[in-house]
Amino acid sequence: MSTTVRPLIAGNWKMHGLSAELHEIGAIAASVHARPPAADVLICVPATLLSRAAQIAAGRIAIGGEDCHAEVSGAFTGDVSADMLKDAGAAAVIVGHSERRLHHGETGPMVAAKAKAAWRSGLSTIVCIGESEVQRRRGDALAVCGDQIADSLPQDLARSGTAAIAYEPLWAIGSGHVPTADQIAEMHRHLRTCLVALAGAAGASIRILYGGSVTADNADEVLGLPDVGGVLIGGASLLAVDFDAVLRCVPEALFAPA
Ligand code: PGA
Repeated sequence: MSTTVRPLIAGNWKMHGLSAELHEIGAIAASVHARPPAADVLICVPATLLSRAAQIAAGRIAIGGEDCHAEVSGAFTGDVSADMLKDAGAAAVIVGHSERRLHHGETGPMVAAKAKAAWRSGLSTIVCIGESEVQRRRGDALAVCGDQIADSLPQDLARSGTAAIAYEPLWAIGSGHVPTADQIAEMHRHLRTCLVALAGAAGASIRILYGGSVTADNADEVLGLPDVGGVLIGGASLLAVDFDAVLRCVPEALFAPA
């Protein structure tokens, strides 16, 4: 992991969470306040929970959305704009998650348009990329992910240095199968090269998160790898006790305080 970039530990609740679960946000915020980790902490929640989650978080952790529309407003029934997320208290948004690409047919250019909209609204943006199991078996993983960076991350956003990338191999999401340390390190090294080619010096400081079955059992090793600038956590972000255990894996000594 870079010694200059403060890691981002981000949760993704996906389509989980009712009012009754908001106390988990309170518990995570309280724990971060009591023992601040050497990391930025973000939990991305369904739009229905955003404003209450932001209130409960009280600035101790950041709250984010899980997707946004590329337009500011308009006749898009059921969609939510980046401005709306911001208005509800979001500081960040995930775009291009593989579940959006798969179930909603989102393409790279669509993801790039969403990322740009989020950036214009002042949200930090996490752009997700990742290869399928077949692509990995064919030996195409590096090329696929490099292409996804090129078509999903707008160059001006990359140059702003405000975006993060989340590398989430599809076969690792929710499966309990985590790539080997060598596979993660190889991919993150490749993504760093792609980011520097795309955005010059700013590309060197863009955080590249790893996501896919991250738990306290593997976070230690993953966070210790070169060019891993944090993690994006699905299942293990739903309960404060699990998320907190991941936070405690952040190696404090490596980072300068924010
Ligand atoms: P997981 O999900 O941690 O449950 O594998 C990660 C993600 O999809 O962001």
